[in-house]
Amino acid sequence: MERPAARILLIDGDGSARELVAWLELRGYAVEHETDGATGLERARRGGADLVLLDPGSVEGDPLSCVEDLTADADAPPVLVLTAFGTIAEAVEAMRRGACDYLQKPLVEEKLALVVAKALEQRRLAARCSDLEQQLDLKFRFDNLIGRDGRMRRIFQIVETVADTRATVLITGESGTGKTLLARAIHHHSARRNEPLVEVNCGALPENLLESELFGHEKGSFTGAHRAKPGKFELADRGTIFLDEIATASPALQVKLLRVMQDRVFERVGGEETQQVDVRMVLATNVNLEAEVAAGRFREDLYYRINVVTLELPPLRERPADVPVLAESFLERHANEHGRRIKGFTREALERLLAYRWPGNVRELENAIERAVVLCRKRTIGVEDLPPNLLREPAADLGRGGPGDEEVLPLKVALEEPERRIIERALARNEGNRQKTAQMLDVNRATLFNKMKKYGLLDR
Ligand SMILES: Nc1ncnc2c1ncn2[C@@H]1O[C@H](COP(=O)(O)OP(=O)(O)OP(=O)(O)O)[C@@H](O)[C@H]1O
Ligand SMILES: [Mg+2]
Repeated sequence: MERPAARILLIDGDGSARELVAWLELRGYAVEHETDGATGLERARRGGADLVLLDPGSVEGDPLSCVEDLTADADAPPVLVLTAFGTIAEAVEAMRRGACDYLQKPLVEEKLALVVAKALEQRRLAARCSDLEQQLDLKFRFDNLIGRDGRMRRIFQIVETVADTRATVLITGESGTGKTLLARAIHHHSARRNEPLVEVNCGALPENLLESELFGHEKGSFTGAHRAKPGKFELADRGTIFLDEIATASPALQVKLLRVMQDRVFERVGGEETQQVDVRMVLATNVNLEAEVAAGRFREDLYYRINVVTLELPPLRERPADVPVLAESFLERHANEHGRRIKGFTREALERLLAYRWPGNVRELENAIERAVVLCRKRTIGVEDLPPNLLREPAADLGRGGPGDEEVLPLKVALEEPERRIIERALARNEGNRQKTAQMLDVNRATLFNKMKKYGLLDR
């Protein structure tokens, strides 16, 4: 499909500008030429151009504030500054104020062709991104979750179907894939949405505390229990309870959970009275529960009770279609938060985001984008703003690569994924204890620390 000619507005009172017009027209661009600065700026503000070429020398007053002015609007065309020899400092300042690039006079044809094409390409990408933003709100959002990938869309559909029932839901997925967010979405889509959603991270508390946290205790039931206290199950009555990291539950606790799942009854720690609750249970795990059952660490009967509706959140590396939409939405969020006017990503930066394997999944992507927003000194995020570990992997060739394609990676890169998995599993098995994990893997703690850092495993 042929695209319409890009429209370029040239604001330049210089005698040599006619040559430039002829040159651009020869290359198929539609050119409007203004020799007078004030009229030119007026015309630029009216819109219609895809790119503005501006010689600040032709504008009266502060030429840099006019760059700022011209680019203030989010969908204003990019401004390319033409500058005479010796005023590079000014050109750089113009970029800081929003110009996309600068060209030094006398113009060199090859350079001109390249810079103009690049500016227009960025414009096209930015336009596409803002299209995406609009579609995002309508089509790709489910509660606070964004998902364009087919598997994610199916998960959203299932949630819509089961949300209103009391069916237990098990959410599985690597860390950072959105399990917590999904659990909240289930609650918000259910008829229980105005009742409490109580979240408990089973991995965060030692066994005895966890039991009284969940089921409550009576006064004097253990040292320090000065008063009776209701547990999370009681607090979640009529609402939803979300039990995170369920695989860490001890055998004794598993028995109690089985009972509450079967009959919705339990006793407080140290209590006689049987309590009845009406709760919807949502559980999450980042380890394979079936394997835990096989290894004898998780009760099979409990597993069958839990495994009613299972939603498997795929790792981010398996849903590349989600990367750009997520990146866009995080960009918007953090640019607002930090008061930065950043419009999008360069093509190279997007390619890097797509090529990277995201061991820390969506959480890692969000952190990377926030960091880039803070570091970025231009209007678009470039490769130089991305975390260094993203740049180590070769960028994907976006034109190729399909599900059937054999991925050929350098050995070192190919070994990273299994290494990360091994470390992740060992950490889970040792409940995050690094000393024990290092011993298990026979590496020293510093090595383990560095590898955890590399794979985004530190902030668990
Ligand atoms: N589909 C998504 N759309 C938008 N944001 C997402 C999505 N998935 C995850 N996030 C964001 O990524 C971060 C991690 O998500 P979340 O905490 O839900 O992951 P998790 O699977 O529960 O991780 P963990 O196993 O470490 O508990 C959060 O900041 C969340 O807002
Ligand atoms: Mg979570």
